[in-house]
Amino acid sequence: MAPLTTLAALFLGAVASVEGAQDWDSAAFATSPPVYPSPNMTGADAASLSGWAAALEKAEAFVANLTLEEKVSLLTGAPGPCVGNIAPIPRVGFKGLCLQDGPLAIRQATYASVFPAGLSTAASWDRDLMKLRGQYIGEEFRGKGSQVYLGPVAGPLGRSALAGRNWEGFSPDPYLTGVAMEESIIGVQSTGVQAVAKHWIAYEQETQRNPEDTFDKDTIPSVDQIMSVSSNVEDRTIHELYTWPFANAVRAGVASVMCSYNRINGSYACQNSKTMNGILKGELGFQGYTMSDWMGTHGGVASVEAGLDQTMPGAWNWEPTLPGVPSWFGGNLTKAVENGTVAESRVDDMAKRVMTPFYLLGQDEGFPGVDASSGAYPMNNQFEPESDWLESWTAAGAINTESNVDVRSNHSKLIRELGAAGMVLIKNNGALPLSKPKDIAVVGNAAGDVQNGLYYHDVNYEPGVLPVGGGSGSARFENVVAPLEAIKARAKADGTHVQYILNNTRLVTPGGFHDMIYPVPEACLVFVKAWASEGADRDSLELDWQGNEVVEQVAQNCSNTIVITNSGGQNVIPWHSHPNVTAILLAHFPGEEFGNSVVDVLYGDVNPSGRLPYTLAEKESDYYFANITSSVSNPNDTNAWQADFTERLLIDYRHFDYYNLSVPYEFGFGLSYTNFSLSPSITVKPVSNSSIAGVPAPTTSAVPGGNPALWEDVYTVTATVKNTGAVTGKAVPQLYIQLPASAGEGTPVKQLRGFTKIELTPGEEKTVTFTLARRDLSIWDVVSQEWSVPSGTFGVHVGFSSRDIKAKSSFSI
Ligand code: BGC
Repeated sequence: MAPLTTLAALFLGAVASVEGAQDWDSAAFATSPPVYPSPNMTGADAASLSGWAAALEKAEAFVANLTLEEKVSLLTGAPGPCVGNIAPIPRVGFKGLCLQDGPLAIRQATYASVFPAGLSTAASWDRDLMKLRGQYIGEEFRGKGSQVYLGPVAGPLGRSALAGRNWEGFSPDPYLTGVAMEESIIGVQSTGVQAVAKHWIAYEQETQRNPEDTFDKDTIPSVDQIMSVSSNVEDRTIHELYTWPFANAVRAGVASVMCSYNRINGSYACQNSKTMNGILKGELGFQGYTMSDWMGTHGGVASVEAGLDQTMPGAWNWEPTLPGVPSWFGGNLTKAVENGTVAESRVDDMAKRVMTPFYLLGQDEGFPGVDASSGAYPMNNQFEPESDWLESWTAAGAINTESNVDVRSNHSKLIRELGAAGMVLIKNNGALPLSKPKDIAVVGNAAGDVQNGLYYHDVNYEPGVLPVGGGSGSARFENVVAPLEAIKARAKADGTHVQYILNNTRLVTPGGFHDMIYPVPEACLVFVKAWASEGADRDSLELDWQGNEVVEQVAQNCSNTIVITNSGGQNVIPWHSHPNVTAILLAHFPGEEFGNSVVDVLYGDVNPSGRLPYTLAEKESDYYFANITSSVSNPNDTNAWQADFTERLLIDYRHFDYYNLSVPYEFGFGLSYTNFSLSPSITVKPVSNSSIAGVPAPTTSAVPGGNPALWEDVYTVTATVKNTGAVTGKAVPQLYIQLPASAGEGTPVKQLRGFTKIELTPGEEKTVTFTLARRDLSIWDVVSQEWSVPSGTFGVHVGFSSRDIKAKSSFSI
């Protein structure tokens, strides 16, 4: 549990509701109406993955042959070799399921790769690389015998810039995150591995994410725990922001969705019938299974009825329930069916939901056994021989006879490429690319190698690079290429003299840089960092270890200071307009090839093409919407922890645009070593003549992703982009839509609804076409409870960032 931070305390109560929109009223907006019963799956195909009906038939036949206890064992985590396990059922030849984190690597395994984080992936704005990353991750999971990949992440979305896990996901923009979810899932599942979209839903902070014992049991002994924070979100915001990317995930045919730790409008995510039965299985037509986050289940029958299909980690040492009760599911669920509390038909649907993706992805056909070196939880090097599960898993043929299988293949090539593609150049006064400099300095504690071992996943550390962040989204490295190492290799080839200081304490002491680095080199590369991890929100948006002071000190002494930040999200960088700071590159969390990726960009072997997947504001208080609730005021109020999402739709650039606030570096922005132009005349065409106003005809049965009419292309927008510079580069033209006034107060000024990435040689010109689906033009109508296209004039903006709009047009509906 993160302590109350000063910043969080400042934010408390400082958030006004959206100007002009109805005033915030928790009692009216933050409701979670009951939705029962839990919808049965139908086997409807997803847009990107067909064959569900045939797989459902196989699952039905399989489940029909099981006893009640066996069905329940498919729904209850068990001890085993992986971070989550479904036990084998040897009687029917079922070898069990091995679930592993996720989301950027097979977390604890040996001889596996560590890919760029979701944040870096989003910053690439490159659909092909997103998909290939998913495919390679899937291949590595498969090679290690893990059927279930615990990723990708669309929650947290990034409401708060301080949230510890934003980097595991993609971007606070739901459209960009939706695309990244879809591509990642298609990639992973193409290898026959199940993806788990997590964490559903409105899980936007680490602070108070789990219940905590009350302090004063003597006064109110009946109150054992303060419940997890309640994310209080009104209906339109739930749909247009937080559900949006999960709709893409369901449409892509994701096998599973993990419910989150927090409550939503008062009700635990894994026990919330509105979000699981209503939105996920109802509106979105989700056909797979819901899975609890680890210890996120807080009730048995209530969770089952609300739509939870599988509890994790289940019946082993740490699913705390009632004294003497091993799991909320397990024997308790069997009992609940036997005494008539839960209908067996519900358990049948749960079991079919678990087994359908298994058959659909061919996991019954020759899936590799679990590699003993893929790491049990917590960190075990090898299976402990006395583990009582080992015998049954081995007897079931679920364990690979070979361990330390090398699954990395040639994946480092993609990691290097995507690592570079996810770096965003936000300032360049001609300092970059470097061209065989005579001498350089490399300074800052993020330049050197990791110091605490190759699996140092849960605590911030002073010296050493941060290829990725901490927590369950971290990973064990086989190999890390630190920036200094890669720069030295390059310098050797170029004949460049390299001086370095990696100690920030020395760098900020007077003379620390000046007295050591002489002569002053042609370029000073400063590597500064900011840690982020599951389990704790960031204390501030400052760089760690006096990173800002380090930059100031170097800039005082070196007129060509090039700053590289290594961070899991937004930072305050007060030195950005300092005249001696000649270039700024945001390196994010690029994975194991960090050094090579950054050298590629700094030296121009790769022309930077990343774009900001968030907004960089001037100061911390500009992010006031990044509200994280404070510590509890009344220790005996079980319901004390509340987070009111009063900003509604206005997070990240939606906020800065709505209130017309200036920011130094806006969403979508990023520089290249070349220049691009976009012709001011764009073509906007309806796909058909029929009216699309209002609500589309409803569907009679569930379709993954929701009503297919929402996904129909209704308009196309065509623009022309040209490389006007001297080198080949990749442009990222972006399409933003401004909804008509009838969309209501509090509607964002404009929203990303299309992007593409194209490579252009000098002088080359290409036409790009964006397609707008009906959903892209719709709002969630809280009255009709449908997506609806508002009437009026739609603004069409095409440009190179959310504020660098080069061409405008409009159409009316
Ligand atoms: C995290 C999940 C993760 C699980 C298993 C939880 O604490 O929230 O994202 O998949 O642990 O490690």
